Amino acid sequence: MSRLVELRNCRRVYDNGRIIALDDVSFSVARGDFIGITGPSGSGKSTLLDVLCGLEEPSVGEVLFDGEVVRGRADWARLRAERIGFVFQSFYLIPSLTVAENIEIAMLWQGVSARDRRDRVAQLLERLGLSARGRQHPLQLSGGERQRVAIARALANRPTLIVADEPTGSLDSRSSADIINLLEELQHGGEITVVIVTHDKEIAARCDRRVELVDGRIVSDLRGPIPAVPTEVCA
Ligand SMILES: Nc1ncnc2c1ncn2[C@@H]1O[C@H](COP(=O)(O)OP(=O)(O)OP(=O)(O)O)[C@@H](O)[C@H]1O
Ligand SMILES: [Mg+2]
Repeated sequence: MSRLVELRNCRRVYDNGRIIALDDVSFSVARGDFIGITGPSGSGKSTLLDVLCGLEEPSVGEVLFDGEVVRGRADWARLRAERIGFVFQSFYLIPSLTVAENIEIAMLWQGVSARDRRDRVAQLLERLGLSARGRQHPLQLSGGERQRVAIARALANRPTLIVADEPTGSLDSRSSADIINLLEELQHGGEITVVIVTHDKEIAARCDRRVELVDGRIVSDLRGPIPAVPTEVCA
């Protein structure tokens, strides 16, 4: 599988080096990966995700996207706008806009014509089971529905990569399962690569690849299904 994003020896420190959020991490995301990043609070999961998409610059090390080192904010801003979709725990929808407008806004600066924007919004609403909600406002929706709107917005510019930081952190278990099913469907559809940060072991278990962080370091990186836990103890 070809590499979509690669971190080479990335270190990220805060507070004049007193806090080491990422400690010499080398890590790559292959095209088509469906990765769950887990680890204790403060272990560097969000930092890893932010470095992966240029929201944070590594203090040391470099990040490659599609095989090329990305340097500078302008290049990252362009990559994020054109290639990366974001989903966060707290949705970040604009309450004064309708659901349809919240999705459309992602395309406003991408040169998509008004007609194509309308068509894409309609397709996304349909795909995410939100067709009846387009004219409503975010505060009229449940948490699970709001997160689906956020996912529709993340998909609007047809990204290569979706990054999600605790996307189910504010949701009940049923809505969480819906959101993960949805992300899984998108990734199985082919072109999209998904990286999710999660505290939830069940969600991590659904991922094709699980990366665990402790104290800013990757302590395990496993592919494939989780081995079944034996239910009987042999005498
Ligand atoms: N902007 C910042 N300024 C100072 N310290 C920071 C900053 N961002 C993160 N840190 C510190 O870096 C470390 C890693 O933080 P990070 O947010 O990546 O952890 P996390 O694994 O996402 O935690 P959580 O599960 O609580 O979200 C923590 O010690 C945190 O306090
Ligand atoms: Mg975090």
